[in-house]
Amino acid sequence: MSSKVHKVWDLPRRIFHWLNVIFVFALIALGLLMMNKASLGITGTDAKIGLKKLHVFIGYGFTLNLIIRLLWGWCAPRHSALIRKRVTLTEISHYQAQKAEGNQPQYIGHTPLGRISVVIMFVLLSTIMITGLVRAGTDIYYPPFGSTVQTFIAERGEMPSKIRPYDATFVDSAAMEQLKPFKSLMGNVHRYSVYLLMLLIVMHILAAIKTEVKQHPGIISAMFSGNKLIEGKAEDE
Ligand code: HEM
Repeated sequence: MSSKVHKVWDLPRRIFHWLNVIFVFALIALGLLMMNKASLGITGTDAKIGLKKLHVFIGYGFTLNLIIRLLWGWCAPRHSALIRKRVTLTEISHYQAQKAEGNQPQYIGHTPLGRISVVIMFVLLSTIMITGLVRAGTDIYYPPFGSTVQTFIAERGEMPSKIRPYDATFVDSAAMEQLKPFKSLMGNVHRYSVYLLMLLIVMHILAAIKTEVKQHPGIISAMFSGNKLIEGKAEDE
């Protein structure tokens, strides 16, 4: 059977992917550090605020990269779209049937199930981004929501910008109490979305390794080079 090299991942897509990997791993590491700081002997309000600030600064890099990717996926040429092709039930059953028969259907882009996991991944990343930005506002009064939160919790007649993180001076305690359920909801959504994302990342890496070793050598290097070698005709050609 003849083999052909296909250009699969364009440069903006590859840059997004690897920057995203770096940001996500750094944010997971810092997030886990924040969660376990007491048992690691990190105590004190300044250390707590310092870790949060660092997490949020890296979070801004992650946010910028994700927003550029979402906008690029929306307006750029077809080959840069978030997913190349919509997934249909017919396509999924065709793919499963082929696999059940022992065939290995070839795809230039992702398999139909791979495409579904990409969509779930982007929904999770967006949820984590939004809840993270909200918590950056409620916890350390950082943009884009920090000044709105300060205005909401400021004591009457006080300048909202005088409020400092983890300091009750100038804060209206009733307004702070009112904010708490929302803050905790955002924190929980952030944390559980991260757990789901971690699960998906493990599955994503295992699937890439399995495909690389068993069926389709070169899919991992394709995310560096942009090119994939396909035997015969691809399903999505
Ligand atoms: C994939 C990207 C991200 C990952 C993996 C991640 C991970 C985590 C983890 C594991 C925690 C600890 C959760 C807890 O203590 O309950 C956390 C908390 C936090 N994250 Fe993120 N995060 C991400 C993106 C962001 C972004 C974009 C921002 C804002 C710019 C952000 C802001 C925060 C803040 C303010 C907290 C503290 C919340 C709290 O104390 O409950 N995160 N993050």
